[in-house]
Amino acid sequence: MVSIEELTSFCKRRGIIFPSSEIYGGLAGFFDYGPIGIEMINNIRNEWWKAIVHSNLDIVGINGAIITHPKVWEASGHVDEFIDFLVECKKCKEKFRADHLIEEKLKIKTEGLKEKELNELIKKNKLKCPKCKGELGDVHEFNLMFKTKVGPGDGETTYLRPETAQLIYLNFKNVVDTSRQKIPFGIAQIGKAFRNEISPRNFLFRMREFEQMEMQYFVKKEDASKFFEKWQKARFEWYLSLGINKKNLRVREHVKKELAHYAKKAVDIEYKFDFGWKEIEGIHNRGDWDLSQHEKFSKKDLKYFDEETKKKFIPWIIETSAGLDRVFLTFLVDAYHEEKVKGEKRIVLKIHPKIAAYKAAIFPLVNKDGLPEKAREVYNLVKGCFLCFYDEKGSIGRRYRRMDEIGTPFCITIDHQTLEDNTVTVRNRDTMEQKRVKIDELLNELYKSLYS
Ligand code: ATP
Ligand code: GLY
Repeated sequence: MVSIEELTSFCKRRGIIFPSSEIYGGLAGFFDYGPIGIEMINNIRNEWWKAIVHSNLDIVGINGAIITHPKVWEASGHVDEFIDFLVECKKCKEKFRADHLIEEKLKIKTEGLKEKELNELIKKNKLKCPKCKGELGDVHEFNLMFKTKVGPGDGETTYLRPETAQLIYLNFKNVVDTSRQKIPFGIAQIGKAFRNEISPRNFLFRMREFEQMEMQYFVKKEDASKFFEKWQKARFEWYLSLGINKKNLRVREHVKKELAHYAKKAVDIEYKFDFGWKEIEGIHNRGDWDLSQHEKFSKKDLKYFDEETKKKFIPWIIETSAGLDRVFLTFLVDAYHEEKVKGEKRIVLKIHPKIAAYKAAIFPLVNKDGLPEKAREVYNLVKGCFLCFYDEKGSIGRRYRRMDEIGTPFCITIDHQTLEDNTVTVRNRDTMEQKRVKIDELLNELYKSLYS
């Protein structure tokens, strides 16, 4: 499996992801998407939206604001509860997440442990600063929300949203009143979330600015378990349907003391990275926590009126919550392969065609003899249906390799025979086999090969 360090430099080399504000030395936890990366992440975003919103009559989408009324985060519990445990080196002042440091050094699980217990573990085992071996200070709670001010002068203090979910709860009534949805139904959203992580690391895995793809499914209390099972299964299958290797994917249930403040039950879908099994998506039974809290803090009635029973109630919520960037990282790690071909290293991204940036690349074999003109004709034919790359310079072998590295499923080459019989060669990224296809049949052929 590719290491995160290798993948980070590969992504930079190939225009997939760049460190943000790099000319100023970068800023930990922030990344920018390059010309290839933006196409791929847009494709993942679209696949999720299609699978969740467009494929289900009982799910609608919204797009909420990033900055909200500060009371939202008091009601949601984030002001009091959204904390990690910080420990600082007394000598070099480097800051660490206490639970991660203990897990790495002592190889034990720390789920659910609080400030006092973490502190004791550090002191009892005489753990030192991993960077300079200096003495560590006491463990403190650290709230992960980014504060900001709204309005001129002193303004009003509020937060950048640490999850997209709350915007869905805030709009629950609006959606019920304006759509024809009846419980059970869901609301989905994709958007930025911000967390001032103590120690951002592992590339896109732990960022300070990232995107979430979340869906909140509103149900009657007695149906909560049934829908929890349904969505857990559906979300697991989604990764498999987009080509993730099943042996690298598992579901892990949270132990009781590990549960977030809002959760009655939670499972993580985890992927096996080179740094261990890690969460890529959480499925949570949030009970009636969120809507009850917002009802209490806003003093607005957020109950749902059931026309059949003529009763009002606060719905329970089943949530699916995935990090778009973390999911992108998963697809990249899973797809990255190095092979030996005729004694030379070949890097190939065996990524699902639906996620690949370009579906095909179009090349004239040589940059003369009327081949570029013919190749542009083919490009114009294909570009209306599939995003294509066009390149007429350099050796054909190098052009193929470049496309393998960014995961382009097919390379279409226009050669001298094309001018005689209107056929092209179509090279398969994974097998490297080539076959001749009539230009008239090219679009059909590509469609079948890409999506069947
Ligand atoms: P972790 O335990 O790894 O910090 P978490 O339990 O805080 O994750 P959740 O709060 O359940 O994660 O967030 C839901 C999803 O949002 C996660 O499954 C993950 O995909 C994504 N996510 C959370 N924090 C980050 C981050 N700092 N960078 C990128 N994605 C993140
Ligand atoms: N909305 C769940 C989470 O971000 O943790």
